Amino acid sequence: MTMNTLKMPVYIKRYAESSKDLNTEIQKELKNVQESLSDIKRLTSLSHLLRYPDAIGIRNNDSIANIKDLNVKEVGHALISQIEVDRLFPLMNNLTISGTGSATGIIVLINSNNELLLKASEGIANHIASNKSFRINDNILKWIIKNGNPLIVNDINKDPRFKQDQSDWILGKTILYVPIKVKEKVVGIVSVSNKKSGDVYGAADVRFLETIATYAAIAIGNSHLSERLKNGNALEQLTLNYYDEKNRYLPATLRSIKSGAFAGCDLYLQTIVNNEAKHLLYCKGFKLLEDERKESFVKKNINRIYVAKNGTEQYLRYMETNMDRFVRDETVSLQERARMLYDIASNIIKDAYKNIDINVIIERVRDWTTTLLDFVLVNQDKHAHLIKVLKYNGKVFNHSANMAILGILFGHYLGYSKKELAILGTGILLHDIGATCLSTNTIEEETPEKLSKQEKETYKKHAEFGFFLLSKNTLVPEEACLIARQHHEQLNGKGYPEGIIGEKIHPYSRITHLLDEYERQMSTDSKYEQNPAFKVLQHMVGKMDGSLDNDILKKFISFLNTSINAISI
Ligand SMILES: [Fe+2]
Ligand SMILES: [Fe+2]
Repeated sequence: MTMNTLKMPVYIKRYAESSKDLNTEIQKELKNVQESLSDIKRLTSLSHLLRYPDAIGIRNNDSIANIKDLNVKEVGHALISQIEVDRLFPLMNNLTISGTGSATGIIVLINSNNELLLKASEGIANHIASNKSFRINDNILKWIIKNGNPLIVNDINKDPRFKQDQSDWILGKTILYVPIKVKEKVVGIVSVSNKKSGDVYGAADVRFLETIATYAAIAIGNSHLSERLKNGNALEQLTLNYYDEKNRYLPATLRSIKSGAFAGCDLYLQTIVNNEAKHLLYCKGFKLLEDERKESFVKKNINRIYVAKNGTEQYLRYMETNMDRFVRDETVSLQERARMLYDIASNIIKDAYKNIDINVIIERVRDWTTTLLDFVLVNQDKHAHLIKVLKYNGKVFNHSANMAILGILFGHYLGYSKKELAILGTGILLHDIGATCLSTNTIEEETPEKLSKQEKETYKKHAEFGFFLLSKNTLVPEEACLIARQHHEQLNGKGYPEGIIGEKIHPYSRITHLLDEYERQMSTDSKYEQNPAFKVLQHMVGKMDGSLDNDILKKFISFLNTSINAISI
């Protein structure tokens, strides 16, 4: 199939050559179709206009000359962008009937039992149309399935090959069949019969039906994929989809774009050229949050956009866009779900160090916290699994993720409400966000002890920077902003940035300070100790220098005790 065929099907050209004027209604519809790559409603409306021109006052001699503006490639895109393939067949049938000026049309698929499934029909007797499946006892169809080629029959009554078994659904004597092929296998047939003009079918009609059949094949392929996705464990299926070597681009929904998970990634549109999916750069990722940009997606009714696959971080972003789905999937083990949630949190913080807009990071953190709470609050047995997946390795990304999970579980242990836990979780995951404003040297040091005096002073600024960054976003509650500012304050007034004491430090900030100490020591001691949590707690209790809130420390010890016991059970 050539580009010319795709751009301007011959049936359209024929109309185009007959006159120069175009009814404005149709012109408007054509423009709309061009502007909205996936707009199935407009496509339906266009199909209706083509089939019933009288309805809008087009007489026989009127023309639809500029119909050449219609780009079949775009119509095809609209067709294949629909997940529910069954809803597409009647539409495709309408297009083939109107495009070839036929009285009758059918679309059949062949199932694994070698039955024909009637997916769409027009102009055939009711008792045939109401049958949903047939045995393949029709020689014509058998011929198409075997040969895989289109077939024009000028007079079915005179054709020696098929004389004996004219199918019930054929009215008149002319008929055209075109196979729908997936990977060279015939999986269905598009057929039209009885041209209203009385002419026989020609090469132009064949090419037009072939175009529609190609899109039908892609839609069927997509639908098989989505069936496969429905039938398995969500996490496994998403992983399979990601690692399938054939998929170099991943579909993302508009929702995921809103949540900012794909910020920083270039976005692509998919289009079909010569039967192959091509991906065209649509916009650079860093411009995602512009309202105008988002609006342009909505206006064009684009609900699927693609991102190029690119390593583990991209994989985690992809999982992040689907996390609300897989955390609820009972067929995925608790351990797997916990690990994925943990990795996603670390990845969000990792992204924060890549100059991604802070508002995008905040939105992702809020989404993550909500999902984690949904996971945690349903059943207590998830707590132990979450604690088990924490990695104490001194990396800044893992540091925040470890603390956020511990913080939410500890807050839950203390009896905090869901709303309070959401604030605490958001604040803790973002508590060191101010460090993204510092030089890489300073933030990459595993422990502040290794920093020079000058670097230590610079590092301290992260608390104020974090508060500033978070306060600018009205969606971040004040207590969460305070966590960023106060998490290095100590109860005895020896902390920073303000050196405030006791009750002046918000309880959430006191919890975060304790978690910060615990996490740092765990990261150091995990390398040497067999039972690091015990040693770390022992050390913290022994220290008791007034820097920590003793009441919170006691409760934290009993919380960990419960959780660690649950792990060993
Ligand atoms: Fe900090
Ligand atoms: Fe920290």
